[in-house]
Amino acid sequence: ENNVQVAPSILSADLGHLADELASIEGAVYVHFDAMDGHFVPNLTFGPGVLAAVKEATQIPVDAHLMISNPDQMVPEYLAAGADIVTFHYEATAHANRLASLIREKGAKAGIAINPGTPVSALDAIIEDVDLVLVMTVNPGFGGQKFIPGSLRKLRQLKAMCDERRVSPIIEVDGGISPATAGDVCAAGARLLVAGSAVFGKENRAEAIRKITEAGEA
Ligand code: DX5
Ligand code: ZN
Repeated sequence: ENNVQVAPSILSADLGHLADELASIEGAVYVHFDAMDGHFVPNLTFGPGVLAAVKEATQIPVDAHLMISNPDQMVPEYLAAGADIVTFHYEATAHANRLASLIREKGAKAGIAINPGTPVSALDAIIEDVDLVLVMTVNPGFGGQKFIPGSLRKLRQLKAMCDERRVSPIIEVDGGISPATAGDVCAAGARLLVAGSAVFGKENRAEAIRKITEAGEA
């Protein structure tokens, strides 16, 4: 079957007790780390120093989602901090292929993200050079937003592009993912599901992760 994986976003965690929060996400395949710079998106979060602290606190691999302008400048810092996946935004750089190869040279997986307003065709020149494509299912910046239904059509287009080009990057979705939306995104081709509020907003995180996984596999 699909083999659905969940990456809880610590944006929705209790940041005053981050180590405990990381210990609670049993069943998580990645920790999703939302870096925001107050410029590419209208919110500011955390950077490479906090990522290094996350790496100290957990064995779970870290999926760094860089919602930052000029990622070329900061990617080396995230790699040095130990990010296992580094995903930058298509909209934020003019040198996506160069950045992806830099990430891969350092032994991390390279991901490219597209905003809801960016068409799948934007990936045409890079699809063969990345390990992961992140289709944003909300406009990035905040947790707890509503899933954009039009994302499903983009996921199907992306799946078709990948099949045609005979590549199989990890297809990740981020924003408004819960047991209610997991089935649809997975049917449309997604297999790595980011979930912030649908995991950390629940008392029992292991159960929340299991419910999203099961809904995705159904
Ligand atoms: C949004 C971030 C997401 C966010 C998702 O800009 O990239 O990773 O944490 O939060 P939920 O799952 O609550 O929509
Ligand atoms: Zn994210």
